[in-house]
Amino acid sequence: MAYGKTAVLRGIDLSMPRGQTLALLGPSGCGKTTLLRLVAGLLSPTSGDIAIDGQMVAGPGLFVPPERRGLGMVFQDYALWPHLSVAGNVSFPLEMAGVGAADRETRVKAALDRVGLGAMALRSPSALSGGQQQRVAIARAIVAEPRIVLFDEPLSNLDRELREIMVAELGALIRGLGLTAIYVTHDQSEALTLADQVAVMEAGRVVQLAAPEALVEHPASAKVAEFLRLGAVLSLTRNGVGWSYGDRALGVTGGPETGTADLLITPRALRIAEAGSAALSGEVMAVNYRDMAYAVTVRLDAAAPAQTVQISSDTRMRLGERIGLEIVSERLRWFPARTQAPVQ
Ligand SMILES: Nc1ncnc2c1ncn2[C@@H]1O[C@H](COP(=O)(O)OP(=O)(O)O)[C@@H](O)[C@H]1O
Ligand SMILES: [Mg+2]
Repeated sequence: MAYGKTAVLRGIDLSMPRGQTLALLGPSGCGKTTLLRLVAGLLSPTSGDIAIDGQMVAGPGLFVPPERRGLGMVFQDYALWPHLSVAGNVSFPLEMAGVGAADRETRVKAALDRVGLGAMALRSPSALSGGQQQRVAIARAIVAEPRIVLFDEPLSNLDRELREIMVAELGALIRGLGLTAIYVTHDQSEALTLADQVAVMEAGRVVQLAAPEALVEHPASAKVAEFLRLGAVLSLTRNGVGWSYGDRALGVTGGPETGTADLLITPRALRIAEAGSAALSGEVMAVNYRDMAYAVTVRLDAAAPAQTVQISSDTRMRLGERIGLEIVSERLRWFPARTQAPVQ
């Protein structure tokens, strides 16, 4: 796909089964919305083709307009019309499709019941909570019984606390309604929570397509691991059969048969130890209480530029405290080195 002469998507080859949720996950500008707009029919691909439910909707010499693709859409700001009631909003796509008044009423009621808003039909959207407004947007997206519902960052305007509640609610709705959904987000935790399959995108390409568990266990590259915030990636140099990080011999073996490598260290691959004897050592920079444990950020010694790692601790550590870290070899993930220059 290109805008003018600028190619923004390349070599995309994706398919998804009915009844599942596919997340498109990647940083801002990587092409997620463009891909969604191609599926929706708001853009026409420069090359390649698209099929929905076995029907070709775009390809050489073929373009099925959005209203004939059987899609529902939910956007970032819900895009509810303030001057219409909840029922008026949900009814709108049916009016556009020329559905008669009696039929509309039945279907609007059914859609509102499905999202648990049957009692709110006559209210104004502005009289509803954020979560309820989102459900109105979903009712509107499903009222015409679409084959696929497209979500474009529907939660990214919300603060973290509300977003976490809404992710859970949205996940329950998508599953409960048996929707086939494509869900665009730049937030890795949203994608991992909601999706059956996650397509990780970088600069217009899909760099990995996998189920959430597989993605976390086997990220395709150090960059994917970092984007998923799985842990710290350290650049290592070979030291005989073992490896060094800066001037520290790490006492770990394995990894590629090369002179340099990148090593992913997740919080679970580290154990707190005595500062003097451990493979790594550093200074406690931050402590956050989260999910019944302390998430501790440690700045490693022997690292320039500064490198931090995260560990989980049952006890509270003091800021500035010096600690040692042992590496649990079987929890490490190795990648080819990204840069030729090793850490000094
Ligand atoms: N209408 C447009 N015209 C030209 N370039 C665009 C247009 N829309 C998006 N782009 C560019 O295409 C790339 C992908 O954008 P987009 O699909 O919106 O990314 P994302 O949704 O992942 O943030 C970006 O570099 C963006 O600047
Ligand atoms: Mg976007």
